Amino acid sequence: MKLFTRTSVILASAWAVQVGYSHASPTIRNVYTFPRNTFIENIAVQSNGNILVTSLGSPSLFSIDPTVPNPNASIIATFPNATGISGVTEIEPDVFAVVTGVWDQAITRAALGTLAVWTVDFSRGPVPSTKYITGIANSTIFNGIARHPTNPRLLLAADSAAGAVYRVDLGTGLYGVAFSSPLLQPTGTAAEGKHLGINGLKAARSTVYFTNSAQGLFGKVGIDFHGNQVGGIEVLAKSSAAGSDVVYDDFALDLKRGTAWIASHPSYGVGVSLLDGRQTVINDTTKLLNPTSAAFGRGGIRQQKTLYVTNGGQFTPEFDLVNAGVVAVELLF
Ligand SMILES: *[C@@H]1O[C@H](CO)[C@@H](O)[C@H](O)[C@H]1NC(C)=O
Ligand SMILES: *[C@@H]1O[C@H](CO)[C@@H](O)[C@H](O)[C@H]1NC(C)=O
Ligand SMILES: *[C@@H]1O[C@H](CO)[C@@H](O)[C@H](O)[C@H]1NC(C)=O
Ligand SMILES: *[C@@H]1O[C@H](CO)[C@@H](O)[C@H](O)[C@H]1NC(C)=O
Repeated sequence: MKLFTRTSVILASAWAVQVGYSHASPTIRNVYTFPRNTFIENIAVQSNGNILVTSLGSPSLFSIDPTVPNPNASIIATFPNATGISGVTEIEPDVFAVVTGVWDQAITRAALGTLAVWTVDFSRGPVPSTKYITGIANSTIFNGIARHPTNPRLLLAADSAAGAVYRVDLGTGLYGVAFSSPLLQPTGTAAEGKHLGINGLKAARSTVYFTNSAQGLFGKVGIDFHGNQVGGIEVLAKSSAAGSDVVYDDFALDLKRGTAWIASHPSYGVGVSLLDGRQTVINDTTKLLNPTSAAFGRGGIRQQKTLYVTNGGQFTPEFDLVNAGVVAVELLF
């Protein structure tokens, strides 16, 4: 219903012809493929252009230089009491936050009491120092994470099981639910996307943008300085409008062009206009292999126009996971 309302508003406006969706076929190149059974979950990019990648199946944070011909995925930090890492995001220049846990990968949940927030600090050189911020006693999944856009103390985290956005005070380690909503909840407990409600989360200009995988929507909601919800949640796009089998996962925000690029299963990158919800669909069944997240490169113009997408990988008939890794989508605008 919400989508209909928006559509009719847009139809009355100047760019009526743009509503709907279109296809794009940019060049996509492989950057790095991980060994078998390394489910790749999330991505962030350092100021030096190196890509940081997390795996739900490894307690190590990987770094990849995407500008060299055959890059390695070097281990740059390994966390204790964890089997994998979910979210990763920059919280201040050259300092990143990550979420570790003891994960059951089949159901994408961490054992209660094992989730922890750490920071990884590169500001004093290429070998980072890590710092434990806090354990989260009462959540089984922090999925996408983002620093509050104006309050440097606050980390916001998407709880895909509870249907809530948590806030974590990076100074004191205090945490709690900032807000929750039926629009953030999953629709079931089984896999296939139904057990993940709010998944990706990015924040900019007093606004949280998010995907809900189970409900197939991309939306936004206002927040105040403390991360409290301000106003209602607005649905900007539905995955079903991009294609009947499209499942939104995490995403990258391009505020300059007003687009969110959503990594989407099984073979999609979906650009959603933040203005009118118009969708641009990239469909590549050989290069986009269950995409889980995306981030723009940093450095020169070419890097800034490259969308790095993490591939979760594909299951073989023997249920081995293969071809998880990172690909570069040359958007070039
Ligand atoms: C690639 O990275 C892995 C993990 O850090 C390391 O064990 C290996 O030695 C590296 N290989 C090369 C060729 O640098
Ligand atoms: C890891 O777990 C052990 C055993 O429960 C505990 O003693 C230790 O403090 C934990 N380490 C961290 C960094 O949480
Ligand atoms: C988890 O614990 C925090 C801190 O005790 C509390 O504020 C929050 O509401 C709890 N979350 C849930 C979902 O019960
Ligand atoms: C994407 O491509 C695959 C393989 O050609 C096709 O089966 C699928 O229908 C396409 N999806 C969309 C939304 O067009």
